[in-house]
Amino acid sequence: MKVLLVGGGGREHALAWKIRKSNKVEKLFCAPGNAGIAELAECVDIGVMEFDKLVEFAKTNEIDLVVVAPDDPLAAGAVDAFEAAGIRAFGPRKNAAILEGSKAFSKDLMKKYGIPTAAYETFDSAEKALEYLETAKCPIVLKADGLALGKGVLICNTREEAKEGVKTLMLDKQFGSAGNRIVVEEFMTGREVSVLSFVDGKTIKIMTSAQDHKRAKDGDEGLNTGGMGTFSPSPFYTEEIDKFCKENIYQKTVDAMRAEGREFKGVIFFGLMLTKDGPKVLEYNARFGDPETQVVLPRMKNDIIDIFEACIDGTLENIELEFEDNAAVCVVLASDGYPEKYDKGFEIKGLDTFKDKEGYYVFHAGSKFADGKIVTNGGRVLGVTAKGNNLKEARANAYKATEWIEFANKYMRNDIGKAIEEV
Ligand code: AMP
Ligand code: GLY
Repeated sequence: MKVLLVGGGGREHALAWKIRKSNKVEKLFCAPGNAGIAELAECVDIGVMEFDKLVEFAKTNEIDLVVVAPDDPLAAGAVDAFEAAGIRAFGPRKNAAILEGSKAFSKDLMKKYGIPTAAYETFDSAEKALEYLETAKCPIVLKADGLALGKGVLICNTREEAKEGVKTLMLDKQFGSAGNRIVVEEFMTGREVSVLSFVDGKTIKIMTSAQDHKRAKDGDEGLNTGGMGTFSPSPFYTEEIDKFCKENIYQKTVDAMRAEGREFKGVIFFGLMLTKDGPKVLEYNARFGDPETQVVLPRMKNDIIDIFEACIDGTLENIELEFEDNAAVCVVLASDGYPEKYDKGFEIKGLDTFKDKEGYYVFHAGSKFADGKIVTNGGRVLGVTAKGNNLKEARANAYKATEWIEFANKYMRNDIGKAIEEV
């Protein structure tokens, strides 16, 4: 079959690698892709939001299956656009992608269906929000309602900071219309876990767990980023926690979406916080995580095309997800200065070292070709993933592999997966 993958980051590189492992796939295209994906797929110069061009390309090239990976096109109805043209597409439709696209929607859904999450209030006016903050307990969390590149969340330690935050989101509109409405939420403490799942509208199958590191600097200091590294599985996600989430969170979410007439097909990513009162949902994403995918898919045994098709056809019930009994760690190599100011266009050396190494992967996040070379082209440049028999081994392997790569302003965290030493 012919497959079109939509996206162009590290997550999509991992997806492209996994899709190409399926013997059902004879040709893979990726729009727009990147320099790493170009080794596995034919990259097509169409942006992820150019739905007309994407649909036209899929029709002309007789694409059998489209996989839409990023949040923006999903929230804007990319899957609906392909379906309207009679093309099979994996991912939630617009009316279901709202699970990630609107925090107010997802919080109201959780409240209505009794799914554990932080207490909250929603505000459409800055005046009301400021009034509420006069008596609210701090620290407190402010969230822009809409998509804001993972950056629309402000943790405020004091009332003053929170009031400033309302101004930033609602009046100065730092995240544009995403801040027309905000959610003000109770601050929770605990360890975070990412749990990805496949959903076919009614059945949900849980993938292995992972943990991201969102801050830019060691020790969880510095600014929030798109993610600086991951490990899988999370040793903190115990069987007991899994059982609780299966009873109180996962299926309930799928059933709630169905009951609302918003049948969800695709990937639900549960961002959980393991609080002392039990696991609670921090956020939902309606897609694969980045860089969670870079540690989850290398451990997955199934043919991913079978799963995509089962999600579309509503036959996921018949599939057992299988993961290797090992571990993986991904360390992101970024451009020094990310997520603020950084330079790009530097030659990346050492990529070939990965070619003959079983269990080592270099997933490109921001790279491109220039004058016959591969150069840096973003804040997050590469995700170096390695497997091991256990987390400790995987971590040592991943850090060893980061040394194979050189570029002028290479920056990484040195403590990805360090938390496992506490177990
Ligand atoms: P979100 O985009 O909702 O996942 O938020 C980004 C990050 O902010 C999360 O990964 C948490 O680290 C933090 N966060 C979000 N909501 C809360 C909360 N209610 N309490 C504490 N931290 C939070
Ligand atoms: N790693 C977090 C995300 O993909 O949103």
